Amino acid sequence: MYTDLKGKVVAITGASSGLGKAMALRFGQEQAKVVINYFNNEKDAQSVKEEVQKAGGEAVAVQGDVTKEEDVKNIVQTAVKEFGTLDIMINNAGVENPVPSHEMPLNDWNKVISTNLTGAFLGSREAIKYYVENNIKGNVINMSSVHEMIPWPLFVHYAASKGGIKLMTETLALEYAPKGIRVNNIGPGAINTPINAEKFADPVQKKDVESMIPMGYIGEPEEIAAVAVWLASKESSYVTGITLFADGGMTKYPSFQAGRG
Ligand code: NAI
Repeated sequence: MYTDLKGKVVAITGASSGLGKAMALRFGQEQAKVVINYFNNEKDAQSVKEEVQKAGGEAVAVQGDVTKEEDVKNIVQTAVKEFGTLDIMINNAGVENPVPSHEMPLNDWNKVISTNLTGAFLGSREAIKYYVENNIKGNVINMSSVHEMIPWPLFVHYAASKGGIKLMTETLALEYAPKGIRVNNIGPGAINTPINAEKFADPVQKKDVESMIPMGYIGEPEEIAAVAVWLASKESSYVTGITLFADGGMTKYPSFQAGRG
């Protein structure tokens, strides 16, 4: 538990499922006030809201498409209207789909870039604008991926979006450090969420992914939520501009394990 998170206001995009949901619940356990943004699944968002409240936090659900400027503004405004301020913005919404790069329709490229990268930019910009105007030493956390450093054939749009998030976060961290605003990334490896449901339902594909993880197992959403609360808390007060990989060692060249190479 991080006692300084009690009563803090956190907005999380894409929070009706997967990592966003796990982070919302963990912030609820920390007795924070959580703005749960959802895209199209109101029922799931309502049930996350109830779970956050049951865990000891306060919560509100707000629909919004992170690719739309007005919707992202509304997420920050909802935090202020409902809970009086914003302390932590978590830009988590993301999408992916596999397509050979030479056949990738422009629509697929645009959808992934606008959701993962532009969405994170808009969320960062709106949160930082609020922090600057109100003299708040706020916090921004962007959901990157191991694919901000590992190239990913068939997912050129996704890898480009996460690579973009890396330098966006580093740039914002540098720009706003003098104001005490911290901006960091989380870089998950392979985690058991709906984005991977189809892949991990197939035992062959699941085993193949596990073979790329030195720790030997697929991570659980709670293991990412634990990173998020640390980055949001005072315990990480001197940390800005990093990507904290939580990937069971996936970024450490697993093919070289056991002295190969
Ligand atoms: P997920 O599919 O459960 O979550 C993605 C969420 O984003 C969904 O709730 C979806 O409704 C929402 N979303 C999609 N488009 C949106 C839009 N335009 N506006 C608002 N919300 C939108 O999958 P997961 O795993 O929880 O993904 C969360 C983030 O974590 C993504 O950014 C993903 O790239 C990242 N990530 C996930 C990894 C994994 O293995 N699960 C690994 C590395 C990164």
